[in-house]
Amino acid sequence: MVRIALLAAAAASLLPSVVYGRPQASETFDYVIVGGGAAGSIVAARLSENPATTVLLLEAGPKCASRTSRFRTSTPNLFMSKYDYNYTLTAQPNLNNRVLSYFRGRILGGSTSINGMTYTRGPASDWDRLASYLGDSSWAWSNIERYFRGNEAFHPPPGGPFTPARFTPSVHGTSGPIGVSLNQETEWIIPPTLQAAEQESAGSSSRSKDGKRSSAATGYLAPPVRQRRNLVIRVDSPATRVVKNGRRFDTVEYRDASGNTRRATARRDLILSAGVVDTPVLLLRSGLGPAADLRAANISVQVDIPALGKHFIEHIGLPMTWSVNSTLTDDELDRNSTLYAEELAQWRNNGTGRLTQTSLTHIIFGRVGANESIWSDAEVAEGDPAGGEGAPHYEQIVSNKWTTLALPPTTGNYIGMTHFVTTPTSRGSITLNPASPAGMPLINPASLSTNWDKFVLRYAIRSTLAYMNAPVWQSFNITPTFDLPLDSSDEEVDAFIRSNAFGGAHGVSTARLGRANTPFGEDVVGPDFRVKGVQGLRIVDASVIPFMTNGHSMAPVYIVAERASDVIRGRN
Ligand SMILES: Cc1cc2nc3c(=O)[nH]c(=O)nc-3n(C[C@H](O)[C@H](O)[C@H](O)COP(=O)(O)OP(=O)(O)OC[C@H]3O[C@@H](n4cnc5c(N)ncnc54)[C@H](O)[C@@H]3O)c2cc1C
Ligand SMILES: *[C@@H]1O[C@H](CO)[C@@H](O)[C@H](O)[C@H]1NC(C)=O
Ligand SMILES: *[C@@H]1O[C@H](CO)[C@@H](O)[C@H](O)[C@H]1NC(C)=O
Ligand SMILES: *[C@@H]1O[C@H](CO)[C@@H](O)[C@H](O)[C@H]1NC(C)=O
Ligand SMILES: *[C@@H]1O[C@H](CO)[C@@H](O)[C@H](O)[C@H]1NC(C)=O
Ligand SMILES: *[C@@H]1O[C@H](CO)[C@@H](O)[C@H](O)[C@H]1NC(C)=O
Ligand SMILES: *[C@@H]1O[C@H](CO)[C@@H](O)[C@H](O)[C@H]1NC(C)=O
Repeated sequence: MVRIALLAAAAASLLPSVVYGRPQASETFDYVIVGGGAAGSIVAARLSENPATTVLLLEAGPKCASRTSRFRTSTPNLFMSKYDYNYTLTAQPNLNNRVLSYFRGRILGGSTSINGMTYTRGPASDWDRLASYLGDSSWAWSNIERYFRGNEAFHPPPGGPFTPARFTPSVHGTSGPIGVSLNQETEWIIPPTLQAAEQESAGSSSRSKDGKRSSAATGYLAPPVRQRRNLVIRVDSPATRVVKNGRRFDTVEYRDASGNTRRATARRDLILSAGVVDTPVLLLRSGLGPAADLRAANISVQVDIPALGKHFIEHIGLPMTWSVNSTLTDDELDRNSTLYAEELAQWRNNGTGRLTQTSLTHIIFGRVGANESIWSDAEVAEGDPAGGEGAPHYEQIVSNKWTTLALPPTTGNYIGMTHFVTTPTSRGSITLNPASPAGMPLINPASLSTNWDKFVLRYAIRSTLAYMNAPVWQSFNITPTFDLPLDSSDEEVDAFIRSNAFGGAHGVSTARLGRANTPFGEDVVGPDFRVKGVQGLRIVDASVIPFMTNGHSMAPVYIVAERASDVIRGRN
């Protein structure tokens, strides 16, 4: 079964320079939030809606710079920049021991200020599964749908036509903080993408507003929010340690923008929103985490939290590229400085043009056939890993340019397809490096360590090879840049995967949410987002999400943070 969705991207507006408050040696707020990314921006904005509640938001990176607030084409320039943690994954045995980059945003807005801007909700069953896992119907799709509508400001592509047939107006919100739109339908790649799906049996949207990136920072920390007197935002202020204060872990030590060590204490809660890597890393460095891991790093154990940093779930991705004879691919935009300057001038002039959209145009969501051999594998005896009859097993993301880890050639035009196993069953971990606890953490997704993940990725690739044989693509003289015919054996496909796959950027579950009364060690936070067995401390970010979402993670993180804000405020 195959479903095609149109991609929407979000773009960001420029954050004007503001005074973010002057730190003192030690201060107290009702809430102190660590990390101003997807989740932290929302929690800060929602909790400070009550003028009587004081909130401090600490962000390690700088405020949004003009460069990031533009459009899609800037995205690659943000990787391995001062806005990126420059993490790498541990050498992956199933990927020929390659050491791959693991991008994470270090900037207000977090990873939403540097990411691919692809806005996917995932299937309703993701939320129904979460509700049944937590035994709490408030997490079911029927209650969660309103949060999606409330998150979204769905709007026509900048300057372009908005054909209602391309989306379903009734399911979208139009007045939320995050701008979401579709790529312009004038793009050459859209008709063949859809026709090939018809011809071979196979969308998505991106987050932008007025042709600019729409991030957690621009959407939720817009000027009216930033000007609240009860909300203090400090950028360039990395938290270094969570500190125990009496019986409560409600104090954070951080380095302010001038390099001084400061402390902030939360009267109500210290809320960690530092993301799937840095939330566990900060806790581990503070002596909270699996006792054995802490001892290995010579850190004295404050609280034994066996599940912290375990159950790391990450998408496994695989890019492939074909050359085409269309001259309208975005390769031109990336290498032709005259064309780029023209587009930039147009974007500056009236906010339209090719720089307002991403190179990813559609996502095909597919399922493994019910007759396939994988269903008799013991690994899936407990049921479909995707957690729902309508949930996808893989995605294929069409892109309008070179899409392979190697740098693009200086000539030619290309299209790409990136594959993800949407619900991988491999489980990795994030720990400190015992030899260097303050240095680069050990981020190990254990990529492709299950039969399911290997099978689904192989299946997705074969589906793509068939899709690219559609007659409509032949009319663009489509030619693979790789050597993998459709009739390749499993071994040949696997070898291709080992040399070309990469770890995704959608990690979840390193501080996973569970029921209030689960056995010790199974999870990290309870339904109230409090760290179990610890007073004064909550976690709200991608690390609490217990299942990989069947799509990209940004929108689900937004929704979890909205819901968590309501839980923290005592709202239903
Ligand atoms: C390169 C890339 C591309 C992606 N593309 C997409 C996409 O197209 N679509 C999609 O849906 N998802 C995408 N994602 C995933 C999505 O952006 C993340 O799932 C989401 O942003 C996670 O939200 P978060 O709040 O958990 O963490 P983040 O948004 O990463 O925010 C964490 C914040 O905490 C800050 N922080 C960390 N440590 C500290 C500390 N010690 N003190 C103070 N602050 C700290 C960080 O600087 C950061 O601002 C992408 C991610 C990346 C990195
Ligand atoms: C990441 O690496 C780039 C390039 O080496 C560097 O300029 C940048 O400062 C690094 N980022 C951080 C947060 O250190
Ligand atoms: C924006 O400006 C470009 C020229 O730079 C023009 O072609 C286009 O029609 C304009 N679009 C709108 C919506 O004004
Ligand atoms: C472990 O920590 C203790 C106390 O801080 C210190 O004295 C000791 O040198 C450390 N050992 C190692 C191997 O780093
Ligand atoms: C670069 O773009 C300009 C403006 O669109 C165009 O005139 C020129 O032919 C392009 N150069 C190349 C080498 O394609
Ligand atoms: C499963 O069914 C599909 C559609 O009928 C067919 O193309 C495919 O080859 C079958 N797979 C197996 C393993 O039999
Ligand atoms: C692209 O190649 C196809 C197939 O060879 C051909 O029919 C078509 O005319 C070519 N298009 C262009 C723009 O060269």
